[in-house]
Amino acid sequence: EWTMAAFREKAIAEIREKVGDGKVICGLSGGVDSSVAAVLIHEAIGDQLTCIFVDHGLLRMNEAEEVVTMFRDHYNIPLVHVQAEDTFIDALEGEMDPEVKRKTIGRLFIETFEAEAKKLGGADFLAQGTLYPDVIESVSFTGGPSVTIKSHHNVGGLPERMNMQLVEPLRELFKDEVRVLGKELGLPAHFVGRQPFPGPGLAIRCPGGVTRDKLRILREADAIYLDEIRKAGLYDAIWQAFAVLLPVQTVGVMGDGRTYEFVCALRAVTSVDGMTADFYHFDMEFLGQAATRIINEVKGINRVVYDVTSKPPGTIEWE
Ligand code: XMP
Repeated sequence: EWTMAAFREKAIAEIREKVGDGKVICGLSGGVDSSVAAVLIHEAIGDQLTCIFVDHGLLRMNEAEEVVTMFRDHYNIPLVHVQAEDTFIDALEGEMDPEVKRKTIGRLFIETFEAEAKKLGGADFLAQGTLYPDVIESVSFTGGPSVTIKSHHNVGGLPERMNMQLVEPLRELFKDEVRVLGKELGLPAHFVGRQPFPGPGLAIRCPGGVTRDKLRILREADAIYLDEIRKAGLYDAIWQAFAVLLPVQTVGVMGDGRTYEFVCALRAVTSVDGMTADFYHFDMEFLGQAATRIINEVKGINRVVYDVTSKPPGTIEWE
């Protein structure tokens, strides 16, 4: 009989066998997948593992601090926190093409990661939190001829360049199973239950191009939206909810003055594995409340719209 406890034992044995007394580095993104992979691998091989957390400046509000606190202070897993905001944001500034943005982030991520790994004296293995849907979606989206819908941001290319082997202990699992495994490993429920967050981060939620100011606006709006979702008790019922900052300004009125500010789109979907998704049916009271708070509290937004597109034909992210 297949149980998660049995999977955990088997995975740990496999990691030990594969790694031997080699050194492993793991790129932490702050998401559930790479975190569960890191904790599992740490359980298997202890401090032969070092995690590298590349903060690309495209994370949500307070996210970097939470990751660092949890891994370094709570789990005592060796962690390098690389503050690389300037590198990423300078390179992205002015770029509008979604694929170029994704590829730029992927390339810089690899370069940053590689430089840090070299500082650590290199490693024999690279660990990643690749899941089963990542394996299939990056091969073929439709089941027909292979079509790349979006370039996924895993550290492809790096293992060969640095002469490392991959360790991907979650390759057979779906997201819901990874959450069960995370709980099994003692990760806090609120962490394991976190909604997925894409590697390229807020950059792909700023269609039309990233600037520091737009990221600030988006981060604030997103935090308010998620706060409202949590307060309404809806967080766990939703696969993913986030704000998108549109590259469009519209006219509004505030007090007795005219405003001309950005539009924020809110997205929320239900899904089992991210491959298909339905837009979430909030009640209008909720949306009105979230919109009011965002407009009142975030300088730079004067209009909020809700995205009612399912996947397909939309994708979950806007880019
Ligand atoms: P889409 O937008 O393709 O997203 O419907 C499906 C799921 O994948 C996440 N996503 C990513 N995750 N790196 C990731 O780790 C990426 O480059 C990436 N792009 C999309 C997205 O948030 C959703 O959960």
